[in-house]
Amino acid sequence: MNLETQYLGLTLRNPLVVGASPFCDNLDASKRLEEAGASAIVMHSLFEEQIDLEQQALIHHMETPAESNFEATSYFPHYDDYQLTPDTYLRALVRLKSGLSIPVIASLNGRRLGGWVNYARQLESAGADALELNTYQLATDPDVSGEDIETEIRSIVRAVSDAVHIPVSVKLSPFHASLAHFAASLEQQGASGLVLFNRFFQPDFDIDELEVVPRLKLSYSSELLLRLRWLSILSPKLKGSLACSGGVHTPDDLIKSILGGAHVVQIVSVLLEHGPRTIPVLLDGLTSWMKEHGHEDLSTMRGALNLKRCPDAAAHERANYIKILQSWKI
Ligand SMILES: Cc1cc2nc3c(=O)[nH]c(=O)nc-3n(C[C@H](O)[C@H](O)[C@H](O)COP(=O)(O)O)c2cc1C
Repeated sequence: MNLETQYLGLTLRNPLVVGASPFCDNLDASKRLEEAGASAIVMHSLFEEQIDLEQQALIHHMETPAESNFEATSYFPHYDDYQLTPDTYLRALVRLKSGLSIPVIASLNGRRLGGWVNYARQLESAGADALELNTYQLATDPDVSGEDIETEIRSIVRAVSDAVHIPVSVKLSPFHASLAHFAASLEQQGASGLVLFNRFFQPDFDIDELEVVPRLKLSYSSELLLRLRWLSILSPKLKGSLACSGGVHTPDDLIKSILGGAHVVQIVSVLLEHGPRTIPVLLDGLTSWMKEHGHEDLSTMRGALNLKRCPDAAAHERANYIKILQSWKI
């Protein structure tokens, strides 16, 4: 059975990629994932705020309460609290590249252009096989339109893609008014692939202490449905690679993602919960399913359930929506 897949121009031995997470901070953990069968690893992000801190030499002032914008800057971790500083990030990348034989994808995370171009070049020189850009932001300013935000993201993608020779992917939010249009425009700006989707951090309320509680909850398989919908819609329309990220926990989740049109699946929560032994379980499940359904390789199953034969995806989606609402009888 051939599980080989192409992602961002890289030939991977199978479609299971370790998503951006702390695993890469530890070479032994990364090696165990490689030995278990992971075909590539995405590094923890290097955050724009860290790059800004270093570039503006503000580290000292950040620790000083008298600083004029103390309130805003105090929301962010102190320089030493980031798991990887820009320098240690580059060193970690070099270490991963020398210790692993699978591709290593570096991740830059921010919302404004800033020092990305410089760091993108340094990550390329340090051996990154590709770059994943994560433009995580919550739009809270009524004066900033969706178009403003998308224009900014496009300019980041253009600048970074022009600055490096390695492939660049973009980890997307599902919350764009016209995701298909935005996704296609990112390809025009040089993106070689898209990661569907970013998983937004959602704080909870503590009603006894009357506090907002930051909480990192791992995903569930139910989150996959949003990804399946957009894989099905985008995969017939886009030329580049698609990664599914969010809610892949079982062999069925992996199979569905590929049927929707994913070239790879990125997993994090399931690895944090069950460790590297999950990887052979997922791959064995995929292999058995392929045997049962007569697929020699992934090319015949990829996108088999996408909307390529559907001339009007919007009408199709709306018709299904109406049907499902009518199906509930009391
Ligand atoms: C502990 C932890 C750290 C993460 N760090 C990053 C990060 O640095 N950059 C990033 O783009 N995504 C990060 N993510 C998000 C994951 O890459 C992934 O998109 C998300 O967890 C959804 O995949 P999953 O359902 O397999 O967990 C992190 C997730 C977790 C749980």
